[in-house]
Amino acid sequence: MAETVAIILAAGGSTRMNTQLAKVLHEVCGRPMLAYVLQACRKVGIKKIYVVVGFSGEQVKSRFDDDDIVWVQQAEQLGTAHAVMCCREHLKDFEGQTLILCGDGPLIRSQTLRTLIGKHEAGQSAATLATAVLDDPTGYGRIVRDAYGNIQGIVEHLDCTPEQLEIKETNPSNYLFNNKRLLEAIDNIKPDNVKKEYYLTDAISGLISTGHKVEAITAMQPDEAVGINSRAQLSAASKIMQRRIQARLMDDGVTIVDPGNTWIDARAQIGQDTVIEPFTYIHGEVKIGSGCRVGPFAYLRDGTVLEKDVVLGVYTEVKNSTLAEGVRARHHSFIGDTIVGRNVNIGAGSITANFDGEKVNRTSIGDNCYIGSGAVLIAPLELKEGSNVGAGTVVSQENAEELSKKA
Ligand code: UD1
Ligand code: CA
Repeated sequence: MAETVAIILAAGGSTRMNTQLAKVLHEVCGRPMLAYVLQACRKVGIKKIYVVVGFSGEQVKSRFDDDDIVWVQQAEQLGTAHAVMCCREHLKDFEGQTLILCGDGPLIRSQTLRTLIGKHEAGQSAATLATAVLDDPTGYGRIVRDAYGNIQGIVEHLDCTPEQLEIKETNPSNYLFNNKRLLEAIDNIKPDNVKKEYYLTDAISGLISTGHKVEAITAMQPDEAVGINSRAQLSAASKIMQRRIQARLMDDGVTIVDPGNTWIDARAQIGQDTVIEPFTYIHGEVKIGSGCRVGPFAYLRDGTVLEKDVVLGVYTEVKNSTLAEGVRARHHSFIGDTIVGRNVNIGAGSITANFDGEKVNRTSIGDNCYIGSGAVLIAPLELKEGSNVGAGTVVSQENAEELSKKA
């Protein structure tokens, strides 16, 4: 690959989202949408990424501290071309190629970017863009082609003629430009459109009209072209991402009994031959080993680690805890901020009382402990190996010593 940098446009506010939070920080399967776009760039080997921020920019910056990001401020949001212009100082001497993506398009796949880069380099074009054919193109820029099928330009939805509104080939906003040509083209863009904005899409028609070569790849699947402008699109994109996450896990040897009724965070890791039963919700950085059985109706939260052969059943909630090999908690339990040793059995309805009203306290349960049904383990607490807690017992550090002697 020729030297390539990326620009991610993430400065726009979001009227349609109706939000106080920067749009690109809204989460898709547990990660801010911007994180996916960054990841796609890194996967194709891009080492420098300019992220243009404006609306709630400080909020965005505070969520990412990666060294390959250069933050660019766009004080006023005058349009997507204007956002690119804000990078001019950084790019003015750059001889390579510039990939431009939108922070509100988290579904872009790295394979598509590879195809885009391949086509661009083979064609030695001034610009190459990806296009996607959508059943419902409402809201997207339309790709206008001539009678020979050559691209002429992109027309925004609001600027379309009735005939152009019928076009189903849309612009998902993924472009690769020869950097020099890009800078020339954006200098000539005028805000003469319905929104009175500087449109990056006009760089495409601008290059074509000055005799430069522009090509497109049509290999983009509709499900990666979704741009998120509203809560409804956020939810639609999350569903698509969820299917991808589950498909990857199933390829890795995880059984997901009912994918439509299971939710798994993008950050979760799950080992081979683990079975995820229906209505399981996994949120945050959760690590599940091999051969486990989780659910139905289990809720695993951030910081949960299950080693191998752990069984968690109905209405079991685990948070910030490590459960060693062979632990069983089959019914109605809450395990929070706890280390649970090997082969511990946690009876129905037993919980760790980890919050004393002021702070969260930790519990440690030694190997081979038996916790009867309905026990309350009041943290901070350390239960020695082999302790035996009878049904209904309220255990605090004072009576914990007794329990281990009886065992
Ligand atoms: C844009 C494209 C449209 C395409 C669609 C795909 C333009 C003019 N239109 O429309 O052809 O089909 O994306 O989703 O480019 N942004 C800035 N600064 C600005 C304005 C926008 O950084 O001044 C950022 C936004 O934060 C967003 C991205 O650019 O991440 C796209 O802007 P948005 O307003 O969402 O454009 P669309 O109307 O969706
Ligand atoms: Ca958008």
